[in-house]
Amino acid sequence: MLAYRHAFHAGNHADVLKHLVLTLVLRHMNLKDKGWRYVDTHAGAGGYSLEGDYAKKRGEFEQGIARLWERDDLPPPVADYVALVRAFNGGSKLKPKLKQYPGSPGLAQLLMRPQDQLRLFEMHPTDHKILASFLGDVPGVEVKLADGFASLKSQLPPPTRRGVVLIDPSYELKSDYPRTLAALREALERFADAVVVVWLPQLQLLEATQLPQRLKATATAGAKKGWLHAQLTVARADERGFGMLGSSVFVANPPHTLHGSLQPLLPWLAGVLGQVDGATHRLEHGAGA
Ligand SMILES: C[S@@+](CC[C@H](N)C(=O)[O-])C[C@H]1O[C@@H](n2cnc3c(N)ncnc32)[C@H](O)[C@@H]1O
Repeated sequence: MLAYRHAFHAGNHADVLKHLVLTLVLRHMNLKDKGWRYVDTHAGAGGYSLEGDYAKKRGEFEQGIARLWERDDLPPPVADYVALVRAFNGGSKLKPKLKQYPGSPGLAQLLMRPQDQLRLFEMHPTDHKILASFLGDVPGVEVKLADGFASLKSQLPPPTRRGVVLIDPSYELKSDYPRTLAALREALERFADAVVVVWLPQLQLLEATQLPQRLKATATAGAKKGWLHAQLTVARADERGFGMLGSSVFVANPPHTLHGSLQPLLPWLAGVLGQVDGATHRLEHGAGA
């Protein structure tokens, strides 16, 4: 039985980085009329209360989305992402109170058009139930209680040959590391144009430190438009070396504008989301097959 619940972490610094990149990717997809398919292999509940016991217990969103909420100096792409979070909070008022945070399916739904499709996989029965009641009846959306790693193949290539995949495991199981790598390889073998977004924790753990290199090698061999890796380090490990230092997002076949968009945003985010002096960022990219 899986123990991980994303409700404890919703809206934290890692969600901000991941969801900002996802927003940039889907906005880019919307520049063309042709419909796209979005596959979320680890969808979570789709949206989270920030006033409930889960979110309040750790208050992680206070070091994430809450640090952006009241600011009037957001760079335009960050302002666009925060506007989507406001819309999720019923944003008819200019600055509604921050009560809820959209998960990746909630954000994707805000960005989808009638011609687009969402395919959402979630294995935790409770989160699947919440997700199904939130989005299960929306036209173009399918919610499945199934293993997202195993199901990805069946979703690619999309009929329109325009597709975005988000692979966002909790890495609660060590097998999530090799399965993530295999999922990227499999996705690119079936559809070498797939835009594949992978979220990675920054931990002092061999599997976590090796995964970025392995993803790069896989995308270099199999992605037509190369890869990009954006990392934000916001904290320090404790004296035993435990704890998440930050996170990164790896993108295979990134939109050609993504690197230029992230270049000024990452140092800005490191300054705003850093929890220690010397919060840092890194942005790398490489060619593909
Ligand atoms: C990090 S959370 C996802 C957060 C979500 N993508 C977002 O950005 O809002 C990971 C989720 O994957 C689920 N999960 C774990 N293993 C899975 C698997 N093999 N297939 C589908 N879902 C899985 C967990 O129950 C958890 O809800």
